[in-house]
Amino acid sequence: TTVDLAADDYELGGHTDFMRKEMAEQPEAIARALRGRLDERFATAHLGGLGLDPMALRAVKRVKFLGCGSAYYAGQMGATLVEELARIPADAEPASEFRYRNPVVDPDALYVAVSQSGETLDTLAAVQELRRKGGRVIGAVNVVGSAIARECGSGLFLHAGPEVSVASTKALTNMTVSFAMLALLLGRVRDLSASAGQRIVTGLRALPGHVERVLADDADIARIAKRFAHAEHMFFLGRVRGWPVAREGAQKLKEISYVHAEAYQSAELKHGPLALVDANMPSVVIVPADDLLAKNLATIEQVKARGGPVIAITNAELPSGLADEVIRVPRGEPELDPILLTIPLQLLAYHTASALGRDIDKPRNLAKSVTVE
Ligand code: AGP
Repeated sequence: TTVDLAADDYELGGHTDFMRKEMAEQPEAIARALRGRLDERFATAHLGGLGLDPMALRAVKRVKFLGCGSAYYAGQMGATLVEELARIPADAEPASEFRYRNPVVDPDALYVAVSQSGETLDTLAAVQELRRKGGRVIGAVNVVGSAIARECGSGLFLHAGPEVSVASTKALTNMTVSFAMLALLLGRVRDLSASAGQRIVTGLRALPGHVERVLADDADIARIAKRFAHAEHMFFLGRVRGWPVAREGAQKLKEISYVHAEAYQSAELKHGPLALVDANMPSVVIVPADDLLAKNLATIEQVKARGGPVIAITNAELPSGLADEVIRVPRGEPELDPILLTIPLQLLAYHTASALGRDIDKPRNLAKSVTVE
């Protein structure tokens, strides 16, 4: 695989900072990731770089995603997609933990090392540990020729284009888009029907346009961010598909605005953290229009009943007045909801950080790629 790097990839091109530029580039980045990989006729995906024929794909009994930070949360979204579409067990684990716990390596599993830079030391070390124990590991990497891409030898490139901002946006989006294609492929060599596969293909094709519409909501999200920028703490709540979305939202807010944020699975709230909810503790609640909608509405009510302000991120119709603020995203295929529901959280973090006067592209104490222990 080759990439053409244009000089303007490293220039702001009229944007105030790289995070803003890279968020704006997401529709074209997604289109690039999809190019030549979707197969309408057989309702599947082609991922030649995996180096796995249908027999080898069928032999995969389990999928495990390994990455750090946002790449780990993207892996968690990937695991949900694989379980939903291919019905094989899948999970994600921080690569940093994996390598320290003398992991049991499953010869029938497919391990996926997830990294934008391809240089993250903890992820590279996890790959080396896997290879040493005879595990089958592929890379999901953005930077071609990077250490992790070379060590894996096969995988899927993310095609997000160069990402400069410390806060990952378009690379994370392309991770989940790539995992949706991987899940589709694993599903279609098993029992995912052609019509279900076609639904995912159509949903993926619609994504760039849908992301464009979320980005167009910038001014309203900026207003909401300003309204809550004074908060010292924030909860991010979600369940199942919404849970890694909540984690990524909390991560992005902490990273660039330095506002303390914690993510919880919505149902865990009542087991402790609910004690923290009051008028000074806003909650961002992820509300996909899926079969857990009623449960998520109940979460909003629980928070509201304790006087906590609620910002709902949703593609459903919510009863009016239920949440203090509602950020709407277009409705697509439910399995792909996490991809779209993550976009407003980037903007929310971005505008909170900018309301607080933070250095958006270079948050304190952080590096773009962490090549040390
Ligand atoms: C994302 O916004 C963070 N800067 C960070 O969590 C990042 O995703 C992590 O360090 C992994 O980096 P990588 O994808 O280059 O391996």
